Amino acid sequence: MSALPLRLLLCFVVASLSGLAQDVPPYTEDCRSGTYPPSGPTFKGNVSWYTVNLDQAPQERWQKLISEKKTALSILIQAIKDLATSFFPSEKIIKLVDTKLPLLIGTLPCPFGEEIKGIADASGLPLGEVMLFNIFYEVFTVCTSVVAEDKSGKLYHARNLDFGLFLGWDVKNNSWMVTQLLRPLVVNVDFQRNGKTVFVSTSFAGYVGMLTGMKPGIFSLTMNERFSIDGGYIGVLEWILGKRDGMWMSFLTRSVLENATSYEEAKTLLSKTKLLAPAYFILGGNKSEEGCVITRSRAVCLDIWELDLKNGTWYVLETNYDHWKAPLPIDNRRDPAMKCMRRTSQQNISFGTIYDMLSTKPVLNKLTTYTTLMSVSDNKLEAYLRICPDPCMPW
Ligand SMILES: *[C@@H]1O[C@H](CO)[C@@H](O)[C@H](O)[C@H]1NC(C)=O
Ligand SMILES: *[C@@H]1O[C@H](CO)[C@@H](O)[C@H](O)[C@H]1NC(C)=O
Ligand SMILES: *[C@@H]1O[C@H](CO)[C@@H](O)[C@H](O)[C@H]1NC(C)=O
Ligand SMILES: *[C@@H]1O[C@H](CO)[C@@H](O)[C@H](O)[C@H]1NC(C)=O
Ligand SMILES: *[C@@H]1O[C@H](CO)[C@@H](O)[C@H](O)[C@H]1NC(C)=O
Ligand SMILES: *[C@@H]1O[C@H](CO)[C@@H](O)[C@H](O)[C@H]1NC(C)=O
Repeated sequence: MSALPLRLLLCFVVASLSGLAQDVPPYTEDCRSGTYPPSGPTFKGNVSWYTVNLDQAPQERWQKLISEKKTALSILIQAIKDLATSFFPSEKIIKLVDTKLPLLIGTLPCPFGEEIKGIADASGLPLGEVMLFNIFYEVFTVCTSVVAEDKSGKLYHARNLDFGLFLGWDVKNNSWMVTQLLRPLVVNVDFQRNGKTVFVSTSFAGYVGMLTGMKPGIFSLTMNERFSIDGGYIGVLEWILGKRDGMWMSFLTRSVLENATSYEEAKTLLSKTKLLAPAYFILGGNKSEEGCVITRSRAVCLDIWELDLKNGTWYVLETNYDHWKAPLPIDNRRDPAMKCMRRTSQQNISFGTIYDMLSTKPVLNKLTTYTTLMSVSDNKLEAYLRICPDPCMPW
């Protein structure tokens, strides 16, 4: 089973059912305005803050957060197990997860293996299933990320996290099952050393990698999935079979957020480290023209698309397609997003207008779990739970 063909297949089925709804209201809409501060039917709540103390041993540091979130975590993991058994109707697959995956915990780099162990202990869930939960995000994340510079040279970095594609359609609630079960797990985390913030992140309780984060005053970083023939499953499979020279993508983003000390260092690490699967890294800095989209294959950096004000490039925006290629017509969130950016113009860019863009269908869709807005120089990270009421694109 590979992500792309399955995705395509479903796309075509839904497309023919909905009469190619992509460019047809009410599945798409004109650029929204006045949606910020968030309220109304697309706003599902604020995201709460937690502190994780990096001075504590890796096995200890998640305990407090997990003790609050363990019910939501076990409900989600049970749903994932039910889905897996409906795909492969035998107990074998779960047994494999429970017995074989834990044997690999020692091969994860420090501090990830220890942290996952700590999360399993604190939640009372089997180690293999917590590992599976951590692997999951490497494969099912589709998103929209943007870095934009305003007229004063200030940088904004924002993203919608869209997660749960194909993970079970809930007919009763007309939404993706995993997406709805994931919302209660969304947390903002303040990672501290010596009582001081090292970096902040919007994350999921129980997950030790990072998809969205910011190092105050220095840089901001998001990761989007990149589909490719040589995609996620192959790297994950190779890793399980023992070829472990590539790094988990979200472990790399976590390491960069935790330990890189400048925009340039972050850019180098994200471009040069060998990965388990292809990815897009979207990086913003703290001064004019520090913003880029890094397109990665597993082994090399294919392209770095940078802000270039003289040339009119005052923002870079990434969904899940190489920026020099057209998106799939049935999954085109890029053109509507860019239309709204152009219409807003560099003069008027702000948290509010970026939130407007990220609230416009189909940039906002049934998979959208949260929206995060970041400003490195103001040391601000805001995250909001999102929902897309009917009628709305499934992705
Ligand atoms: C979210 O936070 C804002 C600002 O702190 C507050 O005004 C608002 O009432 C909160 N909304 C919900 C639904 O909790
Ligand atoms: C589905 O909707 C019902 C009623 O609106 C709600 O009680 C239930 O929690 C929803 N299910 C999930 C998984 O969110
Ligand atoms: C960051 O660096 C410290 C010190 O070298 C190391 O112990 C830690 O594991 C690193 N963190 C990550 C996430 O790689
Ligand atoms: C920007 O980041 C650099 C490190 O890359 C740091 O030395 C500098 O003080 C930062 N500037 C501001 C305005 O925060
Ligand atoms: C502006 O962009 C064009 C095409 O994207 C490129 O060929 C040209 O070198 C750029 N000019 C500058 C000054 O960077
Ligand atoms: C920018 O904002 C101002 C005031 O909020 C408004 O008058 C103007 O029309 C906006 N410009 C664009 C291009 O949206």
